[in-house]
Amino acid sequence: MARKMKAVQVRQAGGPLELIERDIPEPGPGQVRLAVEACGVCHSDSLTKEGGMPIQYPRVPGHEVVGRIDRVGAGVTAWKEGQHVGVGWHGGHCGQCAACRVGDFITCEFEQVCGISYDGGYAEYMIAPQEALARVPDGMNSQDVAPLLCAGVTTFNSLRNMDVRPGDLVAVQGIGGLGHLAIQFSRKLGYRTVAISRGADKRPLALELGAHEYVDTEQGPVAKALQKLGGARVIMMTASSSRLAGELIGGLGRNGTLLLLGAGAEPIPIQSPRLIMKRQRVQGWPSGNPQDSQDTLAFSALSGVRSRNEVFPLDRAADAYERMMSNHARFRVVLKMR
Ligand SMILES: NC(=O)c1ccc[n+]([C@@H]2O[C@H](COP(=O)([O-])OP(=O)(O)OC[C@H]3O[C@@H](n4cnc5c(N)ncnc54)[C@H](OP(=O)(O)O)[C@@H]3O)[C@@H](O)[C@H]2O)c1
Ligand SMILES: [Zn+2]
Repeated sequence: MARKMKAVQVRQAGGPLELIERDIPEPGPGQVRLAVEACGVCHSDSLTKEGGMPIQYPRVPGHEVVGRIDRVGAGVTAWKEGQHVGVGWHGGHCGQCAACRVGDFITCEFEQVCGISYDGGYAEYMIAPQEALARVPDGMNSQDVAPLLCAGVTTFNSLRNMDVRPGDLVAVQGIGGLGHLAIQFSRKLGYRTVAISRGADKRPLALELGAHEYVDTEQGPVAKALQKLGGARVIMMTASSSRLAGELIGGLGRNGTLLLLGAGAEPIPIQSPRLIMKRQRVQGWPSGNPQDSQDTLAFSALSGVRSRNEVFPLDRAADAYERMMSNHARFRVVLKMR
């Protein structure tokens, strides 16, 4: 008889996160099975929970997954049982399309998303395609690593690809899962770092994470505050508010970029003359590939960037998700399986 495992699934868009028992899955050709040790709860898991992408339900969410390889499928030669690995948002690619042929796996025509295209890490075991795996450096703990596989790689990889130099002003809007890592990365990469949040309570936390300055959006127009600091070279936005995105553009300096990581549903209001005269731009960025994840882990280990986590057992995934969605988490919620 097949061995059973615990998993947390969404039966249909908008449905609850429900704890279930199901057979431990077997890896097919080119796949591995992970004994999951930890999985971060990302705001993007709301796409699985609430709908918003083409998803076949029931679906197990979770794309900040860390575990040990427990079994390898036929044809897998690059990975062995027992290896410590992670899987992020980018959950696989075809290796054959025009983008993959030039190594641009993140725009693969057949990109798979972990926890959306196939079952993710809110479970004791998970199947992943071999090309989705990132190696975890020796000595790193699974709970610490999990948030780096989406929140971490998205902020580190986007920032390192911006047109920005040490000493420039970088602002990070929203101090949640992504934002609290972005502040640390920005500081460690040598930028003058401004944290932007709502209210005074996050000021000490932001400064402790490495921000040089703190802007409270409840104390006046955010654009004015950023202009007073000289205008930002990059503003990384992690909230999903299009109205706020429009306001933040006013805080950019010459050649500045508004970097959108959180997606709002409405169109963004943009004053184009200013954008033109100041040579500014608005840019989005999607996560990164497994090599980007490995780079993120290596940089984090090297520079001491660390996710601050609240840890929940898998059985309490619904509470963990609610804690994140209600903006109470300080700063990432992580599920622990073993
Ligand atoms: N581009 C990508 O590849 C990528 C990857 C991962 C996640 N995401 C997206 O990025 C966003 C952030 O994810 P996360 O996991 O960091 O979420 P999170 O932990 O919930 O943090 C989001 C933060 O945004 C701020 N915020 C929320 N609502 C706001 C509002 N109405 N106005 C102003 N600020 C608001 C809050 O910060 P304060 O309390 O400090 O104001 C909150 O902590 C989500 O939309 C997620 O789907 C994108
Ligand atoms: Zn994510």
